[in-house]
Amino acid sequence: MAMVNPTLEAALPLGDRADVKGLLYGAATTARKIQQDSAFAAAVARECNLLVAENDLKWRALRPTPEQFDFTRGDALAAFAQAHNLQFRGHTCVWHNALPDWFEQVVTHQNAEQFLTDHIRTVVGHYAGKMHSWDVVNEAIDPVGEGIDGLRDTPWHRFLGADYIDIAFHTAAAADPNALLVLNDYDLDYAIPRDAAKREAILRLLQELVARGVPVHALGMQAHLRASEPNFDPMILRDFLRQVADLGLKILITELDVVDQDLPRALHTRDLAVANVYQTYLDTVLQQPAVIAVLTWGLSDRYTWLAGFRPRSDGAAPRPLPLDALLYRKPAWSAIASAFDQAPSRPHL
Ligand code: G3I
Repeated sequence: MAMVNPTLEAALPLGDRADVKGLLYGAATTARKIQQDSAFAAAVARECNLLVAENDLKWRALRPTPEQFDFTRGDALAAFAQAHNLQFRGHTCVWHNALPDWFEQVVTHQNAEQFLTDHIRTVVGHYAGKMHSWDVVNEAIDPVGEGIDGLRDTPWHRFLGADYIDIAFHTAAAADPNALLVLNDYDLDYAIPRDAAKREAILRLLQELVARGVPVHALGMQAHLRASEPNFDPMILRDFLRQVADLGLKILITELDVVDQDLPRALHTRDLAVANVYQTYLDTVLQQPAVIAVLTWGLSDRYTWLAGFRPRSDGAAPRPLPLDALLYRKPAWSAIASAFDQAPSRPHL
């Protein structure tokens, strides 16, 4: 374990640095972690100015039965955010994953629209006035897989066709006219054919939504980056961001982390390589004034989805986030801090 650096630990937190530039910095986590781990909760309150609900506002968490809504965990997160002066961000109204077990038996062509609109009206309505933003539709694009017209083959698409996206945004806008409504997706970052197809498909969808007057306000770029991916081209990414911004949309980096699966095990080399990815990516995207928020998918390596979903073959714990598993700041933290310090200022919203 690296030596603790007291100067680094005393430095201005990420959220404060972001705030200086009119940006938001936040992290995703769950009510359970906040409630059971007070040191982690304190780190979240210190580093962030926005809190993202990682799992507690997904259908699976909110809908124990077709008739019921359980806001216990979501409300606990909202209360923590409020108590610590953090903005709060909802994830996600419409997704093909994390659906409740009853979904397949209960939701049909006949009742899908009713279920979708009831859900969004109730959930977005419940947090109306408290939410900075909502990922209204998550991961709707699939230009190269089994998709239909570039859209992913999901239960919502099968039941309602492409209209489900319009329905979701209109319903969310009516339920909370003040939240920023986001279309969120992944694989938009690299200069590889898969990501190029995704960028093209999402631009097309955003253009159509805007042309139809659908209330979509921002693109969420998940940005689960890979330290071993050599094909990063700042020009291509900047050009894409400019095209999104030209539609009048904001951009949020919503689920940033860096997969270290294929890096050498040695901590120092690994941490520097991960930090370098953060630095290069953020230096690129923060040049675009429409980018208003940088949100990491977790704050500390103590809790990261990558431990389960992208394990290292040598069994070493992944180190994808700004704080290490002991909650000390890592080179990744310094890279994000320096990217914020160097970022052009935005108007404070
Ligand atoms: O709720 C059960 C719990 O009762 C049980 O004890 C535990 C044992 O493993 O599992 C719990 O459920 C897990 C849940 O996370 C809560 O921790 C699920 O198995 C697990 O699949 C679920 O994973 C989440 C995943 O989305 C699916 O919902 C990850 O934490 C979360 O980080 C991940 O986040 C997604 C975004 O929503 C969308 N973009 C990609 C991103 C990463 O996959």
